[in-house]
Amino acid sequence: MNGKFITFEGGEGTGKSTQLRLLADFLRTKGINVVETKEPGGTQTGQELRRILVTGDKDKFDATAEALLYFADRHIHMTQKVWPEMEKGNWVLSDRFADSTVAYQYFGYNKRVSREDLDSLYKIAVGNFKPDLTIILDINPEIGLARSFNKAATMDVKELRFEGRELAFHQRMRQGFLEIAQQEPQRCVVLNADKSIEVLHNDIVKIITERFEL
Ligand code: TMP
Repeated sequence: MNGKFITFEGGEGTGKSTQLRLLADFLRTKGINVVETKEPGGTQTGQELRRILVTGDKDKFDATAEALLYFADRHIHMTQKVWPEMEKGNWVLSDRFADSTVAYQYFGYNKRVSREDLDSLYKIAVGNFKPDLTIILDINPEIGLARSFNKAATMDVKELRFEGRELAFHQRMRQGFLEIAQQEPQRCVVLNADKSIEVLHNDIVKIITERFEL
């Protein structure tokens, strides 16, 4: 495939979506065709799954059901959108991908789903494919959650199912992302997200320019 796949990961309120948009604009100034997408909800069916996954009571189903639904969304996303766009040579930027499932459903829930099972689901849904680069935005969850609740106050549909989990869940999930980055240092870059939008954007541009020799 000619295109690239770059994923943004991190806890709640890290500013992923803003940074993804800014990076897409930057890449377009370099003449690159960019597709902005997200998980869950990068396709029409994914939008329906997203509503089920991120709204409503936090205990309406367990970590296993979540993992299955996130991977169903992911498989649809890859086959209907990400791979076809990459085949055309486009760069795809995704707001979250499979590291979120490991960080939330495995680490967040204190390993109630096994890592082996998640790895098997990955194989079924995504095969051997991996992102070219994963940018993990790291922030103290207390700061991130406050940002997230402020944002939700302005939204019609409250996507706060995960924000409803206890602080310890978010702290375990943050450590999970850091462990993933340690296990795959070639693919993952961790950035401190407790910075201004402009400074963080410049950090990301530097990494992208070096990594892809732009
Ligand atoms: P977002 O708010 O960043 O768009 O993400 C939606 C929510 O879904 C967020 O609370 C994180 C959660 N999530 C998981 O728990 N597992 C996953 O695999 C993904 C992609 C998201």
